[in-house]
This record gives sequence, C-alpha cells and structure tokens, in this order.
Amino acid sequence: MKLPQRVTMVEVGPRDGLQNEKSPVPTEIKVGLIDRLTDAGLPAIEATSFVSPKWVPQMADNAEVMARIRRKLGVRYPVLTPNPKGFEAALAAGCDEVAVFVAASETFSQKNINCGIAESLERAKPVAAAAKAHRVRVRGYISCVLGCPYEGDIAPSVVRDVAAALKAMGCDEVSLGDTIGTGTPGKTQRLLRAVAEAVPVAELAGHFHDTYGQALANVYAAMELGVATFDSSVAGLGGCPYAKGATGNVASEDVLYLLNGLDIETGVDMTRLRLAGRFICDFLGRRPASRVARALDAKEPLATASPA
Ligand code: HMG
Ligand code: MG
Repeated sequence: MKLPQRVTMVEVGPRDGLQNEKSPVPTEIKVGLIDRLTDAGLPAIEATSFVSPKWVPQMADNAEVMARIRRKLGVRYPVLTPNPKGFEAALAAGCDEVAVFVAASETFSQKNINCGIAESLERAKPVAAAAKAHRVRVRGYISCVLGCPYEGDIAPSVVRDVAAALKAMGCDEVSLGDTIGTGTPGKTQRLLRAVAEAVPVAELAGHFHDTYGQALANVYAAMELGVATFDSSVAGLGGCPYAKGATGNVASEDVLYLLNGLDIETGVDMTRLRLAGRFICDFLGRRPASRVARALDAKEPLATASPA
C-alpha cells in the first residue's frame, strides 16, 4: 500500500485543546500560541470557535483572538461556526475558513449542540451556503464516528450518510472525529471504506483523540487508504466538554515524528512546534501529553535545540 507523499497537518490545539480548559486562558496567551504555531510552519491552525459563550465560555474572546493573531499568507485559520449567528460573527472577524459540526450519534448531538442529527444538518446548511457565497472554505466535522460516550458503537453507514449530507451542502472537506478515541485501525479502515462511497478520500480528514492510545495507529491506517489530512493538537492538549474522560487530540509532535520517519512532507518544524507546546504548557503548568515532546525534552532541551 502506498502512503501519501505529503500530509496536511491541521493544528486544532488553540480550539479543540483550549475549549476544554476550566480556567480562563487570557487572549494574549492564545495569540502567543497561535503565532508560535504559525512560526512552526503549520498550514492550517484552527484558531477559535464562534459558539455560544454560555456553552463554551473559554472561546468568548473569539473576535479578539482573530484580530490579534499574526496571519501568515498561505496559512489557513479556520474557526467553528455552528449557526448563521456564528458565521456572521466569524465573517466580521475576517475569518477565511469556517467549520460546521455535527455528530453521528443522536445523543451526543443533543448534548453538544442541543438538537438531533437531522436538525443539525438543517442548521448547518445555511452556514455552508453563506460560506460558499462569500468564497469562504468550509469544513464539516462529524463527531463520534468510531464510538459515542452515550450510545457505544456507531454504524459506519450512519457516518457515511452524514458525510454525504455534508458534501451535498457544499463542505470542501469532511473531518471524521473519533471524539472519545475508542477507534482501532481495523475499525478506522472499515469506516473509511464506507465513507469513501460518499466522499472522495482526498476530501476526508482524520481527527483522532488519543484517549485509548490508538490515535497514531489510526493515522497510519487512514494513510494506507489514502487519507492525507490529519487534525492534531500541540502537546496533545484537550478533551471534549461533552464526552466524559475523553482526552486530547493526538499530539502534533507525535504525528510529525511519525510522518518525518516515513519521509512524508509536512513543512512543519519540530523544534518550533515544541516551542509552541512549551509556551502553552508553561502557562497551563503541566507537562506536554506528547510522548515525542517529552522524549526530545529529555534528550535535547529546547534551550539548546535550534530550528531546522
Ligand atoms: P441553543 O441554546 O440551542 O441555541 O444552542 P439558541 O439559538 O437557542 O441560542 C441560545 C443563546 O446562545 C442565545 O443567547 C443566542 O443568542 C446565543 P440568549 O438569547 O440566551 O442571550 N447564541 C450564540 N452566541 C454566540 N455565538 C453563536 C451563538 N448561537 C447562539 N454562534 C448552540 C445551540 C449550537 C449555539 C450551542 O449548543 C453551542 O454553542 N454549542 C457549542 C458546542 C461546542 O462548541 N462544542 C465543542 C466543539 S465540537 C467538538 O469539540 C468536536 C470536534 O472536535 C470533533 C470531534 O472531536 O468529535 C469538532
Ligand atoms: Mg475534537
């Protein structure tokens, strides 16, 4: 099986990672993190979300974050927009890419966005249409593709149908979220074969949380089937407010190490990525969850490492 020559790493730490932090993270820290991630060469950095501040207070400073980050030409800074209100605010903040998010589980959908799957797709439609009208790229996320904290196993055919609906409304890319990290490589490949009936593999992304330590194996399994875009979170930040016990996304440092080892191009610099991880971990007062960051820190402290 042929692996992709190049992979697009979508950094989601500033959104998926920080949305789960209990104490407020100051805007300047978020901006400092995003700017360092830009310096690391990431091609896409999910910066914040335009959701209800009552639901996710941590993202309430969305417009200010967008106004203060240093945007590099050619780098995308997507944001989550659950409804037209969120889209309008994102547009006013100058966002160049948005993401709608739905789930493959009825119960998770209710807990996360207060409506069922069918209604969530109806709510996403005007957002996708408005994005198209403004020539803004739009991503569609599906949560719980490999398991739900409330409903357990999810049938691949359900995910395929939701993915088909997202594509039909105009999503340029569909990101498959293993929200609780229960997926394994075999399940990942079965899922991808089903979803590929509805959406070309080139338009799919893998979004693996690492709760069960399977995320890197799932990335590899997905690459074997041609997926070449993966979401990850610097230092493995995160979790999900509506999925108890779920830990962060697969760590960006770990994904980069895997890809470097396979000679797959990303354009991302490991040392600069570690510096971004160190910056946010110093603020949060914890060690990175990334195994690679920990190993490299022990071997080659950042003070002496120089960017490649
Ligand atoms: P609702 O309560 O059903 O909506 O929430 P509503 O329209 O009745 O509005 C309620 C209040 O929120 C109103 O304010 C609205 O104005 C306000 P009030 O009149 O009470 O003062 N409101 C907003 N404010 C700012 N921006 C907005 C917005 N919309 C409404 N866009 C809603 C529905 C979707 C808004 C809510 O459930 C929500 O914001 N949920 C957030 C969910 C979220 O952010 N979850 C985490 C991200 S998803 C994820 O992490 C999974 C992913 O990583 C993939 C994976 O791992 O699976 C992507
Ligand atoms: Mg997620």
